[in-house]
Amino acid sequence: MFFNIQTIVIFLFSVHFLSTGNCSFNLSKKTNFIVYWGANVNQGQLFDYCHNNVYDAIILAFASSINSDGILELTIDKCNGFGGQSCIKLGKQIQNCQKNGKLIVLSIGGANGNYTIKSAIQATQTAIHIWNQYLNGKSNEVRPFGPDVILDGIDLDIEMGAPIYDKFYVTLVKKLRSLMKSKINLINKSFIGRNYLISGAPQCFFPDAWLGPNPHTAITNSDLDYVSVQFYNNGCGIQAFFGIQQFGGGTFNFQQWSETLKRVLVNKKMKLFLGIPASLDAGGGYQNASRIKQIYQNITHFNNLAGIMMYDAAYAIRNNHFGQQIRRFL
Ligand SMILES: *[C@@H]1O[C@H](CO)[C@@H](O)[C@H](O)[C@H]1NC(C)=O
Ligand SMILES: *[C@@H]1O[C@H](CO)[C@@H](O)[C@H](O)[C@H]1NC(C)=O
Ligand SMILES: *[C@@H]1O[C@H](CO)[C@@H](O)[C@H](O)[C@H]1NC(C)=O
Ligand SMILES: *[C@@H]1O[C@H](CO)[C@@H](O)[C@H](O)[C@H]1NC(C)=O
Ligand SMILES: *[C@@H]1O[C@H](CO)[C@@H](O)[C@H](O)[C@H]1NC(C)=O
Repeated sequence: MFFNIQTIVIFLFSVHFLSTGNCSFNLSKKTNFIVYWGANVNQGQLFDYCHNNVYDAIILAFASSINSDGILELTIDKCNGFGGQSCIKLGKQIQNCQKNGKLIVLSIGGANGNYTIKSAIQATQTAIHIWNQYLNGKSNEVRPFGPDVILDGIDLDIEMGAPIYDKFYVTLVKKLRSLMKSKINLINKSFIGRNYLISGAPQCFFPDAWLGPNPHTAITNSDLDYVSVQFYNNGCGIQAFFGIQQFGGGTFNFQQWSETLKRVLVNKKMKLFLGIPASLDAGGGYQNASRIKQIYQNITHFNNLAGIMMYDAAYAIRNNHFGQQIRRFL
């Protein structure tokens, strides 16, 4: 057989791909790196962030509305919401990212939108539609990313609402967990035995207004695998570690989060991520990579630390590949 130089280059390239193909996300480790993608226009292709070892999981941002029947509406770059591009094309990239060992999670919420769940019935319906449209459900419902695209989990980035509605996130998570107990892939009838992630992204201000921990909130009363706390845009953010007083001032409170999570009721093994902004424009309180390393080394002894969360992938690219800078010490 004749190999030209192009074939060899392509071959080497594929070997490189295969060697990075093992899923590296592992909540028993402290070195996971998760990143949001899709919340603005010009995010680049999802797959741009999937062919190297920088990120372990990518969180699609955001499902920013939930209608009265509990159906999510996506506002993600490259599909609905920003010009109505095809979510099926994004679905192909999701699958390629998963083949490369990345977990792909869908985040509900964000700073803008209309996603407050206002009744237990709506919460239950929302869980069923998430299961049928994005996870392992079998139904006639249209799956926005394509018929055979199965995401790895759901994230709750709740940034609006009212205290009386907080309890419905507990209903949502409980229903999702009960649906997840069925591990047969009903699309092709094979057994896949995978675990789905459910996470929350509270503000560092303690407790978070919508997720808790407080009685009848998701962090206290439901089985979240981890919370990635937003240590930005708040007085308790990463800048406070260095004594910088911003957003009304405050103290960097990672320790308070860490110690409280060990005492919450439902999942005492809930893990914790340090959430950071990827650039000055991405979120308030930005600190450079050498300073993030300093904070990380300071908190690494907390046994529920699972790694770093960053908002977001596109801001990071434009900030001198901030993701790579963080991965260098993680
Ligand atoms: C996850 O990490 C732990 C601790 O390093 C290790 O013991 C375990 O085998 C890992 N799990 C997988 C599925 O790789
Ligand atoms: C927000 O969503 C609810 C359904 O969950 C709907 O009834 C309401 O009209 C929406 N509000 C706006 C301003 O779109
Ligand atoms: C069934 O679907 C799963 C997930 O999409 C896939 O990993 C698996 O290879 C499929 N099995 C068959 C027999 O097609
Ligand atoms: C990081 O930021 C600190 C504080 O602004 C500064 O002193 C330091 O020189 C910066 N480090 C790098 C490598 O830019
Ligand atoms: C972490 O930083 C705090 C505040 O600067 C300091 O008191 C503490 O000794 C540091 N801990 C470690 C393990 O570096």
